[in-house]
Formats: sequence, structure tokens, C-alpha cells
Amino acid sequence: MHLHCPDPRGKLGATSRLTHERCQAVFDALGYGIMLLTPQGRIEQLNHAMAAMLGRPAAEVTGRAPHEVVPGHPAPSDACPFVRMCKSLHRESAEVPWGERWFQVTADPVLDAKHKLTGAVVTVSETTEQKRLEEQLRRSQKMEAIGRLAGVLAHDFGSLLTMINGYCQMLMEAMAARDPRRRDLAAVLEAAGRATALTRQMLTIGRHQPARPRRLDLNHLISRLERVLRRVAGPRIHLSTRLARPLGRIQADPAQIEQILVNLVVNAREAMPRGGRLAIATERVRWGQDGPAGRADLRSGNYVSLSVQDSGKGMDAETRSHLFEPFFTTKAKRKGVGLGLSIVYGIVKQSRGDIEVVSEPGQGTTFRIRFPAAAGARRRAAR
Ligand SMILES: Nc1ncnc2c1ncn2[C@@H]1O[C@H](COP(=O)(O)OP(=O)(O)OP(=O)(O)O)[C@@H](O)[C@H]1O
Ligand SMILES: [Mg+2]
Repeated sequence: MHLHCPDPRGKLGATSRLTHERCQAVFDALGYGIMLLTPQGRIEQLNHAMAAMLGRPAAEVTGRAPHEVVPGHPAPSDACPFVRMCKSLHRESAEVPWGERWFQVTADPVLDAKHKLTGAVVTVSETTEQKRLEEQLRRSQKMEAIGRLAGVLAHDFGSLLTMINGYCQMLMEAMAARDPRRRDLAAVLEAAGRATALTRQMLTIGRHQPARPRRLDLNHLISRLERVLRRVAGPRIHLSTRLARPLGRIQADPAQIEQILVNLVVNAREAMPRGGRLAIATERVRWGQDGPAGRADLRSGNYVSLSVQDSGKGMDAETRSHLFEPFFTTKAKRKGVGLGLSIVYGIVKQSRGDIEVVSEPGQGTTFRIRFPAAAGARRRAAR
């Protein structure tokens, strides 16, 4: 590649200056960062996008190496595409982290007729959002696989349990009313009953359990459930509700939404052993074409959000990253199975909604679920 973009501060002739200006115009039109470096790594020329990424005006960084002027900029190392390109004299590229963000960096050599390095063209584009989406996809695929496995297992166990139940009942019926073995059999039946309930929960994770969705007023459901939720939360927790009206309806199975609320409230209670505050809120949200910032994966439209916020112990990043996996628990053996949130997740996905958690250790936790709003009554009637 041969590029001629001489230093504007040098003694340029009119033709060279024109070349430089044109080169700059091309640079600035690009949507990603681009800069010309000297073989020593000093910036010769850069575009608007690059200056914005570096957070410094172009004039301040020209003639210097990026890491000299920008605090936190990684120093040149073997991981740096520019450094590697200086050795290979071929295009080198890498995805490099910078603080919390990720950037795709490529370095191309500028060679003279004798194949000697006279400079480099370095491009930089941010890939943070793409990486986030990839990670999300990977995670949801994992959940999907675990869910399917749980579903298949639960299904087979369900059939076996039906048989166990059936035979037990037959035995029970054949026994005399006063037969002392009835008690043992009753215990078997009870255990089988608990196992059946558990497999039903596992089916929800695998989404094999058919939901019975209908148009549903979330506010109404919460108001109806408030008393029992208060009971579940216990006397040390102050529960408040903030229900937006009008809210609009969602399309969901009421029994499943109850399951969500109970699971979230139980978790909140367990995160606040010494009591605290628990707030349940509903809200109507509308998203434009691009969705909210950083959520390019969500479709635009009307949503109903349900949030459950506690003032409990919160979670670290490690816990947050495994939260929805079946059998992930931080609780003692007998206290938690680790199914609560995976069930919540299964239901939310089944309703084509979305769940998000905001939590830091010691800062409490907020779960926010968004359900797509049900189509308006008028449109429904027209169909
Ligand atoms: N409100 C919360 N505050 C702090 N940590 C939470 C909260 N909700 C969930 N967690 C964390 O997420 C983990 C998984 O929750 P999940 O409900 O799936 O399982 P569990 O509560 O441990 O067990 P189970 O619900 O099956 O009884 C919990 O063990 C806990 O570490
Ligand atoms: Mg739980």
C-alpha cells in the first residue's frame, strides 16, 4: 500500500497541501477511528472519530504516541497489532480491551518502493456492544441447552412418577382400612407427589409445560396477591407497591406470573434476613426504533415492566453471571435448590419478555421484567 499524507506542519507545497486536505476529508468521513503512524508509533494524522476515541483534540496528539498522551491507553506490547506489524510487515489485527470497552484494531504497513516501512495505517473500531451481544447469545444458548435437558429428564421422570402413583393408589385401595402398612404407603405417595411437583417446575424451565396465556392486567394480579406476598415476605420486611395506571395488558399465564412474583419475593426475603424494604412496581414503557441504549437486541414497541427491588445484600459479578442457571445457588444445602430464577427465566422467555438484574454487593437488588404489551382491544376485535 502506498499512501502519501505528508505532515501539514512541514513545508508543504500547494499540491501536497491539497492532497493532505483530501486525505483528511476521506478520513473524517469514515465511521471508525483511523490514524497514520510513523514507524516509531507517533501519530502523523488522524480523523475525527479517532480523536474522539482518544478524548483529545487532534492538535494535541499529533506528533506523539497515543499512550503518551492518553491516560489509561495501553502501552505498546506484543499484543499490539502495530508492534506486530512492524515485525511482520503485513496486516495485523486484534481485539483489545481498554478499560471496560473493547476495540478491534488493525495495523497495515505503508511501504516504500524498496519495501521499507515508512509508516502505518491503524484503524480502531469499538466492538463493546457486539461482544456484549455475543456473550448474551452464548449464555442464552447455554440456558436453552440446559433447559432442554431438564425438560427431557422431567418428562421421563413425570411418566415414571405417574406409574409409581398409580401402583401406590392401587395398593392402597386393595388394603384393609386398618392395615398398618397404609402409613408407609401414604409416605411413598407423598414423596411421589413432591417429586411430581418438582418435575413440573423443571418442565417450566425446559418450556415444555404448556402455558395458558390470556390477556392479563398485571396491576390487578399484584393487588390480588399483595396480602399473600406480604405474608411470604414476613413481618420484618416493609413491602410497598407502586402500580402505574393505566398500564395496559399483557399476554401471559396468570399462574406463571404468580410463580414469578413468589420466587422473586422469596429471594428478596432471603437476601434480607434482618429485614428491609421491598418495592414492587409496574410501569408502561415504549421503545423507539433502536430500543433503549445498549439494548439493540430488544424490539421496539410497547412493554409493561414489572420490577421487584430489595434493600438486601446484593450480588457480586460472579453470582450475577450464573443467576438464571438451573441449580445455581449460593445458599446452604437445605435452603436453596437453585431453581427459582431459572423458572422465572423460563416463564419470561415463554412470554417473549426480557429480564434484567441490577445489583451490587451491599447495594440491594432490582429485577426488572419487561413483557410485550398485548395488542390493543380494538385491534383484537378487528381480527
Ligand atoms: N434478591 C436477591 N438478592 C441477592 N441475591 C439473590 C437474589 N435473588 C437471587 N439471588 C442469588 O441468586 C441465586 C439463585 O437464585 P434462585 O432463586 O435461582 O435459587 P435459590 O434461591 O438459591 O434456590 P431456590 O429458589 O431453588 O430455593 C441465589 O442463591 C442467590 O445467591
Ligand atoms: Mg430462590
